[in-house]
Amino acid sequence: MGKYLISGGTPLEGEIKVSGAKNAALPIITAGLMANSPSKLLDIPMLRDVTNLCTIISKMGGKVQCSGNQVMIDPAGLTEPEADHELARKLRASYYILGVLLAKQGYARTSLPGGCNIGNRPIDLHLKGFKALGAEIRLDHGIVEVKANKLQGERIYLDYPSVGATINIILAACMAEGQTIIENAAREPEIVDLANYLTVMGAQIKGVGTDLIKIEGVKALKGAEHRIIPDRIEAGTYMVAAALTRGEVFVRNVLAEHVKPLIAKLHEMGLEIREDIAGVYIKNSKGKLKAVDIKTLPYPGFPTDLQSQMMVLLTQADGTSLVIETVWENRFMHVDELNRMGADIKIDGHSALIKPSHLTGAEVTVTDLRAGAALILAGLVALGKTNISEIYHIERGYENIDQKLAGIGAMISKSNDQ
Ligand code: UD1
Repeated sequence: MGKYLISGGTPLEGEIKVSGAKNAALPIITAGLMANSPSKLLDIPMLRDVTNLCTIISKMGGKVQCSGNQVMIDPAGLTEPEADHELARKLRASYYILGVLLAKQGYARTSLPGGCNIGNRPIDLHLKGFKALGAEIRLDHGIVEVKANKLQGERIYLDYPSVGATINIILAACMAEGQTIIENAAREPEIVDLANYLTVMGAQIKGVGTDLIKIEGVKALKGAEHRIIPDRIEAGTYMVAAALTRGEVFVRNVLAEHVKPLIAKLHEMGLEIREDIAGVYIKNSKGKLKAVDIKTLPYPGFPTDLQSQMMVLLTQADGTSLVIETVWENRFMHVDELNRMGADIKIDGHSALIKPSHLTGAEVTVTDLRAGAALILAGLVALGKTNISEIYHIERGYENIDQKLAGIGAMISKSNDQ
């Protein structure tokens, strides 16, 4: 299982490199199965979610070869239409198998997906999309089955711009007959990355990155080479770490465009930020930062996946800040642990009021991926030692975070104790 041990108080200095985006890698690896020849994927982050997905695909007959951050995926031997239930439950993104196999062979079965316990995580919008394209859906004891003799393009309005539903509908529609239009689609950069890969494979997709996506179905897709975009959430986590520890850091391999809402807030707080073609430079020379309010929203609004990290930074600001979470209903689980470290945060429904405080090291437990990142950040600024357990949540989404932070001066180590 393992623990992170952190001694707080050291300013972070130097350069830190961001890995490829987990939330782009997962649908892209799965989409590799739609082709009729192998694909070569570069900058894949080697994370627990990725290795679990690769195991699911191997068990279904697909060939996956990982070497460093490169993944070769050969769909030729894919025979099994059912994803391993135990593994599928471990990661939310296993639902992309439904869209991919529905498109490729008209049938798929998997258990309802897992992932972080950050709220009610229904897949009704995914299923609504599949149904509109002509699929039959069966839900039975936590197992989803989708079936179609033929998929037919349709106009689909999403009640909410869900990232997963937008991706799954794009996947299913790629080889459907005729045109599919997705209205109120999600606009996240990971969707654009997937569409870029599918386009090189031969798919016809227009409008990604806007809320109106048009897909013209094609007969077949071929394998392609594709490099995954940098992980904007990992990058944002390191930017917050630099600000928090009064450090000076160059975060390499981030597209500044993708972290605009965070940059805007950090500017407002008084940080010095420079955008560069290769990354983002961030310096906290002011010490005390201004309090700001944050409301999480679908892209290009402030990302919910950076809410917990930002909350740690706000504990060190001068004044009271308000954080409103609108995407997930159960995303304040880090607050109890932060308060155990001396934070002064009060929750009222979907809002949290954060007052300035001095954090002190404590024994804390990770409840979900981004909450875990927040606890690491809190440990970096806290007085004394912080001991973080249940770190497997963090390893689902951050590649070598301990080693990367140690590389810019953080006093962090990993122990394999329970
Ligand atoms: C993805 C990200 C996750 C991020 C989230 C929002 C991956 C693997 N995960 O999750 O890190 O926090 O986007 O940026 O890419 N909803 C429904 N019905 C549905 C689908 C979603 O009501 O069928 C609701 C959810 O309950 C939630 C909201 O829509 O309240 C956002 O969910 P969605 O955008 O689908 O997030 P994910 O794709 O699961």
